Amino acid sequence: MTLNFIGIGLNDEKDITLKGLELVKKADFVYLENYTSKLNCNINYLEKLYGKKIILADRKMVEMDAEKTILQQAKTKEVAFLVIGDVFSATTHMDLFLRAKKLGIKTKIVHNASVLTAIGITGLQLYKFGKTTSIPFENENVETPYDVLKLNQENNLHTLFILDLNQNNNNSLTVNDAIRYLLKVELKRGERIFTDNTLCIGCAKLGSLDQIIKVGKASSLLKENFKNGMHCLIVPAKKLHFMEEEALNLYKQ
Ligand SMILES: C[S@@+](CC[C@H](N)C(=O)[O-])C[C@H]1O[C@@H](n2cnc3c(N)ncnc32)[C@H](O)[C@@H]1O
Repeated sequence: MTLNFIGIGLNDEKDITLKGLELVKKADFVYLENYTSKLNCNINYLEKLYGKKIILADRKMVEMDAEKTILQQAKTKEVAFLVIGDVFSATTHMDLFLRAKKLGIKTKIVHNASVLTAIGITGLQLYKFGKTTSIPFENENVETPYDVLKLNQENNLHTLFILDLNQNNNNSLTVNDAIRYLLKVELKRGERIFTDNTLCIGCAKLGSLDQIIKVGKASSLLKENFKNGMHCLIVPAKKLHFMEEEALNLYKQ
């Protein structure tokens, strides 16, 4: 019948919209995509609010096996596919949407907040972000994030680094890991793109009441503890609007 793509926001079970909740309550099957991001609450809280059993969907189920599960069921049943944050802000879900379209399955979309907009709380203007880049766990020979930073800096744009999630041990890279990674590539490349003095913004658990935002030089943020939860790192453009500067001062260490 319908494959409902529902963004459930960034923090806990209460961030779903009323529209999203109505669709979940009507669903025959409820999937939660759990490989691109994490909520700050246990899945039991979602099940209690929804009154539904949640099926955890890993990357293999969504990207390889959906024809036998999610898409198969959506031909005749109401299926809710829950995405933490907003629906299409991770690269992978458009693929599922297009596959549903090709099979003639009806779809509905319910949007929600995303890390891509929640970073507006730092005061940096969203219009002035350049390309977003992701730092993977296995980054020994990876330099793309550094190249993206270089390109954005040359164009006076802010850079958002999203940080890899390791599905096996439920662990994710931290702001500190991200800074160490950039300093390592800097050393290898011998350039002056990301040094100990580069201004950085470390964010954790954005959208929750105990979110952490810290602004300081790379060397000083390295010593900060951003605690558990989803982390991201921002390197602002060199030239800031006065209001961006004023906002960043709120979070200076
Ligand atoms: C691939 S993005 C997923 C985007 C998600 N669908 C959304 O709309 O927010 C996931 C990455 O964004 C960052 N992230 C997600 N939620 C966050 C939060 N609440 N606070 C800080 N960083 C977050 C983390 O680096 C995480 O690994």
